Amino acid sequence: MVRLAGKVAFITGGGGGIGRATAERFAAEGASVVVADIDEALGETAAAAARKRVRGVGSATFIRCDVTDRASVTEAVAATVARYGKLDVLHNNAGGASPNDGPVTEAPEDEFWRAIKLDLFGTFLCSKIAIPHIAKAGGGSVINMSSIVALMAMPGRDCYTAAKGGISALTRSMAVEYAQDRIRVNAVAPGVTLSARVKKQLEDNPVTEQIAATHLLGLIEPVHIADMVVYLASEESARTTGQVFPVDSGVTIR
Ligand SMILES: NC(=O)c1ccc[n+]([C@@H]2O[C@H](COP(=O)([O-])OP(=O)(O)OC[C@H]3O[C@@H](n4cnc5c(N)ncnc54)[C@H](O)[C@@H]3O)[C@@H](O)[C@H]2O)c1
Repeated sequence: MVRLAGKVAFITGGGGGIGRATAERFAAEGASVVVADIDEALGETAAAAARKRVRGVGSATFIRCDVTDRASVTEAVAATVARYGKLDVLHNNAGGASPNDGPVTEAPEDEFWRAIKLDLFGTFLCSKIAIPHIAKAGGGSVINMSSIVALMAMPGRDCYTAAKGGISALTRSMAVEYAQDRIRVNAVAPGVTLSARVKKQLEDNPVTEQIAATHLLGLIEPVHIADMVVYLASEESARTTGQVFPVDSGVTIR
């Protein structure tokens, strides 16, 4: 039996590694999925891959969206509701660290604002615009994207850490605020996950073996994160809200 039949989901950054894996898993579970991405080529490819996973119910489509731009998000969410009639699930996934990050004394200020704008403000803005639609649908689920950097110190990426810490805190306050609308708000905190972007960063990097050694169950693939997002989007997590779930191959317990 499919687990997301009848649900309409909006996945930001749905063209990338984790977002695309999630779009594919959602489509396979019967959801109508909007791949909302700033990159048209990546978004169209991900939506096509997700459509191939549909079994009977469900569908997938690409809608261009820049999560940092109010007009763009408003238009993309409106287009979603116009196409599918409602919105049940928002997955605030767009984001990511960059090689320009570093310790506070070294990281460029531009990099701080890049991380805050994309990860934290993007999550804020998409939630602000999508939540009234989810409430109108009678409730649903918001799944934010945090990171293990919000749970343990990982030196050398202080801008990204600040943004992801903000997302974890925001997840808890939003869960309390929107419970009255039957909207659950949770976050996933992945460890190092092998999206194409991260694979490129790790290529020929001596630190890769060190990272791999800390992962009790091996390195993480995007589908491992997607599986957690499916659970949080589904009714199986009906009494779960305000939580941040590590999917980290045991890294944070060592
Ligand atoms: N991969 C990891 O190791 C890892 C670990 C912890 C957390 N995360 C988080 O998971 C999420 C996805 O990571 P990923 O590795 O799949 O990233 P990715 O780089 O593979 O994909 C990110 C996607 O977001 C899109 N995007 C970028 N800016 C955008 C914008 N302004 N509006 C809309 N879309 C935009 C990109 O086009 C891309 O398709 C991010 O929030 C990241 O911080 C990733």
